[in-house]
Amino acid sequence: MLKSKQPKRRIFSGIQPTGNLHIGNYLGAIKNWINLQEEDDCIFSIVDLHAMTVPNNLPDIKNSTLEVAAAVIAAGIDPKKSILFNQSSVPQHTELAWIFNCIARIGWLNRMTQFKEKAGKKKDNATVGLFSYPVLMAADILLYRATHVPVGEDQKQHLELTRDIASSFNTNFYKSLNKDFFRLPEPIILGPAKRIMSLKDGKSKMSKSDISEGSRINLMDDRDIIYSKIKRAKTDQYPIPDTIDELDNRAEALNLINIYASFSNKSVNEILHQFSGKGFSEFKGSLSDLIINNVSPITKEMKHLMNNKDEILKILINGSIKAQKIANEVLTDIKKIIGFNFKD
Ligand code: TYM
Repeated sequence: MLKSKQPKRRIFSGIQPTGNLHIGNYLGAIKNWINLQEEDDCIFSIVDLHAMTVPNNLPDIKNSTLEVAAAVIAAGIDPKKSILFNQSSVPQHTELAWIFNCIARIGWLNRMTQFKEKAGKKKDNATVGLFSYPVLMAADILLYRATHVPVGEDQKQHLELTRDIASSFNTNFYKSLNKDFFRLPEPIILGPAKRIMSLKDGKSKMSKSDISEGSRINLMDDRDIIYSKIKRAKTDQYPIPDTIDELDNRAEALNLINIYASFSNKSVNEILHQFSGKGFSEFKGSLSDLIINNVSPITKEMKHLMNNKDEILKILINGSIKAQKIANEVLTDIKKIIGFNFKD
């Protein structure tokens, strides 16, 4: 008899403890997590094993994990409502990743654009972990039989791979029964912030690994830094138009308007209506104020939490106990289905 139940709706998402979190992470992912936890059964992970795929990330991994946990809690994830834990404290993730490594095909992984971007020209020098990274991500999600995954658009392809792995498991190992074991998880990619771009180049994603500090706004940036980064953000000489169509080929302008819309919980059309005809110097002043009003309470709370690291550790340990309970049941079932479990 299988013990785990397929929940009607369960949310899973993760974030890497690498470098500074920026407003792309906040608007594209964390902000949506906060809304979801009000209604849904939510599990969020600081994915430290994923950070290990790039060896340079390791030296400061403990501190980075605590810092990202602090950011997520400061932004509004409530450990009473959601499970929050660090990935390496639930060993079932790596065990399931091995099983999925034997299901996923090299051809599927060869298509992953994120690997190509991250490995760059030195592909032979990239770790095997970086190549099979999306398999571990599939394990993260399916270990909880999650049904919905709130992420930014850059993770869409990894979600498709997760669905391929789930579907292959259902057909190859569970075909004697007429019900699927895994429901195929759906991405939740919402609103104008699904892909926040660099402040220096509207064609590249805002990223923790961009060497230019001015390309992103970090959650730890103070008001002067935010003003100066927005002031220096790339735009063009044209005023703000009336319609979204007129923003075609104006990637940097569209990006700043998307950021404004997302922080103010309004649509892009409403923002265009509000600022139509105005120049970017005026718009940038309002945008800086809006960002500061939203980010500074998070920064303040993060700093407070980082002075109480034991408190963060307690939250992560409690979260991992809850996560392990679910993970253990699901993995036991998966092993029974494959034929690895002789106990019952
Ligand atoms: P990571 O740590 O790179 O980013 C965390 C979340 O932030 C989103 N994001 C963005 N959204 C909009 N605009 C941007 N510029 C931007 N940059 C980042 C990401 O889409 C992500 O939602 N592989 C994942 C972590 C992961 C995961 C998982 C996610 C591991 N296991 C299972 C979901 C489910 C990653 O590297 O995210």
